[in-house]
Amino acid sequence: MKKLTLLLALLTSALAISCIDAAAGGGAIRTQLTRPDASRGLTRRQLLRRMARRSKARASRLLSATGSSSSSSSASAPTVPGKGQVADNEYLISFAVGTPPQPVQVTLDTGSDLIWTQCQPCPSCYDQSLPYYDPSLSATWSVLPCNSSSCNQLDLSSCGTHSWGSNTCVYTYFYGDQSGDAAVPGLAFGCGLFNNGLYSDNATGSGIAGFGRGALSLPSQLKVDNFSYCFTDITSSTPSPVLLGLPANLYGGATAAVQTTSLIQSSDNPTFYYLSLKSITVGSTRLAVPESAFALANNGSGGTIIDSGTSVSLLPPLVYGQLHDAFVSQVKLPVTSDEPLCFAVSSAAAGKKQEVPKLVLQFEGATLDLPRENYVYEMEQGGQSSMCIAVMSSGGDMSIIGNYQQQNLHVLYDLAGNKLSFVPADCDKV
Ligand SMILES: *[C@@H]1O[C@H](CO)[C@@H](O)[C@H](O)[C@H]1NC(C)=O
Ligand SMILES: *[C@@H]1O[C@H](CO)[C@@H](O)[C@H](O)[C@H]1NC(C)=O
Ligand SMILES: *[C@@H]1O[C@H](CO)[C@@H](O)[C@H](O)[C@H]1NC(C)=O
Ligand SMILES: *[C@@H]1O[C@H](CO)[C@@H](O)[C@H](O)[C@H]1NC(C)=O
Repeated sequence: MKKLTLLLALLTSALAISCIDAAAGGGAIRTQLTRPDASRGLTRRQLLRRMARRSKARASRLLSATGSSSSSSSASAPTVPGKGQVADNEYLISFAVGTPPQPVQVTLDTGSDLIWTQCQPCPSCYDQSLPYYDPSLSATWSVLPCNSSSCNQLDLSSCGTHSWGSNTCVYTYFYGDQSGDAAVPGLAFGCGLFNNGLYSDNATGSGIAGFGRGALSLPSQLKVDNFSYCFTDITSSTPSPVLLGLPANLYGGATAAVQTTSLIQSSDNPTFYYLSLKSITVGSTRLAVPESAFALANNGSGGTIIDSGTSVSLLPPLVYGQLHDAFVSQVKLPVTSDEPLCFAVSSAAAGKKQEVPKLVLQFEGATLDLPRENYVYEMEQGGQSSMCIAVMSSGGDMSIIGNYQQQNLHVLYDLAGNKLSFVPADCDKV
């Protein structure tokens, strides 16, 4: 992993991600997420393999942020500000920066706090589909001093090393395009200049929009008390809505019961949204693991987080082993791979939906009774059909609820009330 350097830019004024959502009432800011993989003509198998690989890579980064990793990956982690900063391009949020506005497309990441994009001059950046953001083309950027409070939020190893000025963060103004309505003064925004090693393949996003709990995240800087997202089917190209600052009647049209559980904050890892996962049930089997296997330890290790930037949910190895065994004992098909767990489907049965035990996550006060499409996927390879379970081992003591398991759920983060709610929804109609 090569060194990553970020200089901090301070931006003001409107977000072009924004439009005031009159229909939703109450002045919610609405934007949309797109999936970079959706329009690339990848096969389902390729899509899922990419997802699986990125989820594993992300898990090792998140675990190294908490000191929970059993591997030594923390030693080689890039010098990024914020914990768990590096994300995968699962869901991209589009907006514009500068005067005149230049488009950026960044990953929605509840596992980090800073908002940043790759910037010119880009001596060491990865490929992206949009041009690199060029602050010098903007009439309204200037340098934010290292000693400013926003800059102090970050451990900026690059501070003072750039030709834009010595001992500086980078400062710019941030204006929306014509459609942008929500004026947000003083938004702090990072400029990534040396980003090699961030992405192993051609990511199309240009950076990250941190939605974590820290002071520099987008929800924190917009000073909203809540936000929500609703991920459309992971293989579809239909955009997914994100709402910031929600109306009270958010779930007015919901037909199923809204599930609500507490968000837990950790002083060791203040960025993350921890949940109190209690148990997991596979069909008739409640996994024989103690609650402590999912709980945040006093020393900041372990715990269960909900994450927008991880695809496939990840469980500690011992828990994964139990989940694996519970599926194997209840699915009457030959096992073709153990992680992800896949079963061979005979050619006669290919194309038909195989029986699969229910997967249910029990949280304090809330039950996530996963629909089949949120944990099962079918694929073909070399004439062989298989059915796989979209859960893997985290390789450490943390559990991560990924976005595969959050499809077609409208997920509300109530930051003021420290609660997380979710309800099944048609995300393209939210
Ligand atoms: C930052 O440093 C500059 C120059 O050293 C000083 O003038 C300024 O007051 C400092 N600002 C803060 C917020 O400490
Ligand atoms: C990434 O994309 C660029 C431009 O589209 C292309 O030239 C390059 O070969 C791609 N790299 C990989 C590793 O796919
Ligand atoms: C979101 O926050 C606003 C402002 O505090 C509040 O009026 C609204 O009821 C909240 N919405 C939900 C769904 O919690
Ligand atoms: C943190 O606490 C857990 C559970 O009490 C323990 O298993 C683990 O070894 C501790 N980790 C460190 C780094 O002290």
